[in-house]
Amino acid sequence: MASHPSFPRIAILISGKGSNMHALTDAVRNGKLNAEITFVGSDKAEASGLHTAQGKGLDTALFSNWSTAEHRANTEKELLRKLKTTQTEWLILAGFMRILSPAFVKNMTGRIVNIHPSLLPSFPGAHAIEDAFNYGVKYTGVTVHLVDEQVDHGPILAQSVIPIEDGETLASLTAKIHQEEHCLYAATLKHLFSNKGGN
Ligand code: GRF
Repeated sequence: MASHPSFPRIAILISGKGSNMHALTDAVRNGKLNAEITFVGSDKAEASGLHTAQGKGLDTALFSNWSTAEHRANTEKELLRKLKTTQTEWLILAGFMRILSPAFVKNMTGRIVNIHPSLLPSFPGAHAIEDAFNYGVKYTGVTVHLVDEQVDHGPILAQSVIPIEDGETLASLTAKIHQEEHCLYAATLKHLFSNKGGN
């Protein structure tokens, strides 16, 4: 990918499939999002998204040890070092299933972004789509927000509403939500970076 010195430099963190990372990478490649992806990081060596990222020629990094508070602190130091050496300004969470410590978040206030598959503050947590579906709400959706010290919390940048139709299944709802995520994340980052003078 050609280098653009004026573009915002972003790293993407994933834990699994990485379909949002894939969509963001495509948006960058297609010129829909002016950004430079410095690396894709994961807490899991087996995350299939890591292979997708490598296949796209992106630098990848593993930050795997989160088992105790001490390990987490060391891993977060490694992550900070990597952000610094790659001159990365923005940390984009895309299905990253670890909780960053308040100290880490404070260090990067306003520069960590997350996507969540519900209309926050409703249904935070790891099973948001299923929780909304089982609750029986008529509308759910997608939220993109800045990350603060609490989980799935922080200033909301954008939301999309998705109706839960009669006859909807968890599988059909999940597919609709992922499809929407893939559009909303790139559009929201474009807007965010343009407000900071980047796009
Ligand atoms: C997405 O639904 C995202 O909102 C949530 O985790 C899921 C990650 O999916 N935080 P993918 O790995 O991007 O396919």
